[in-house]
Amino acid sequence: MEPQLTALLAEARAAAPALASRPEFEAFKARYSGPKGAFTAVMKTVGALPPAERPIAGKLINQFKQHFEALYADTIARLETAELTAQLGPAIDPTLPAPSPTGLLHPLTQARREVCALFRKVGFTLADGPELETEWFNFDALNTPADHPARNEQDTFYLPDSTPVGNVSRHANERFLLRSHTSTVQIRTLLREKPPLRVLAPGRTFRRDNVDATHSANFHQVEGLCVDRRVTVVDLKAAVDYLVRGLFGPGAQTRLRPSFFPFTEPSFELDFSSPDLGRLSNKWLELGGCGLVDPEVFKACNLNPDEWTGYAFGFGLERIAMVRAGIDDIRHFFQNDLRFLRQFA
Ligand code: DAH
Repeated sequence: MEPQLTALLAEARAAAPALASRPEFEAFKARYSGPKGAFTAVMKTVGALPPAERPIAGKLINQFKQHFEALYADTIARLETAELTAQLGPAIDPTLPAPSPTGLLHPLTQARREVCALFRKVGFTLADGPELETEWFNFDALNTPADHPARNEQDTFYLPDSTPVGNVSRHANERFLLRSHTSTVQIRTLLREKPPLRVLAPGRTFRRDNVDATHSANFHQVEGLCVDRRVTVVDLKAAVDYLVRGLFGPGAQTRLRPSFFPFTEPSFELDFSSPDLGRLSNKWLELGGCGLVDPEVFKACNLNPDEWTGYAFGFGLERIAMVRAGIDDIRHFFQNDLRFLRQFA
């Protein structure tokens, strides 16, 4: 009996590694241990042996039964592992870097960089100033005296007198405020650098506006200032033409509309129109203010207005980004909804 069992077990052990599925395994198991299985058949012969031989034969059967059970257990474990691996998909290499979404630039950053790139090509440098300012820089030096309506508390954020401010100095009794325009950087530049000069100052500005689709208490401007001898409106017009063509297409045009700002004389509103703006094509759209630097501004900065002339402009960056991308609500820029932002990848 033993050689017979040994041969059966060897045969089963040789066949088991080729089994590839549960149905195959079940058929295999039945071939040996099922009611009509080969091992079952040997087991049945024990009853026919003389009583004296039965205990030894029984012991042998039990031993082989354990070998078969172990073979079945190993095989089913192997099949289960294979099934699980198949479900899990291809093997993962844990040494590879984790996949991370690619970052993208905020549409306002993109607009700012484009404006800066355009003006850098024509000799402008970048200038900067603090967002927290003094009344003098935001108003007085820009020829906006204390009784001017632009200083109205309605549209300017003033800081309490007790606010500790370390890096912006002020005159006695002067108040701190959040700058209401980037024109402050004109003054800071004129006090720091000697003309002739050409600077561009993009930055954050603040007003007590009620927030709606076109107003935000926090927005961005880009200020330009060119100071030289005999600068005229022709130079201003050339600069803004260059800007709108770079931003809104080669067919873009500008229109200077008479206006008033205390720090420019003459002053204009700049309108532009372009055939390449989708549903805004060929409409006159307002971009911001500009003009020739008022002699009073030069005086405030200890420059001789008989010697120096200049042009300046201040445009809204949100306005530029909105027109370019056909966005109709300024609040999108500040809500940081990734579904909105990802469109600018
Ligand atoms: N600072 C003005 C504003 O915020 C815009 C402006 C107008 C800027 C005329 C200028 C300028 O530089 O020349 O409304």
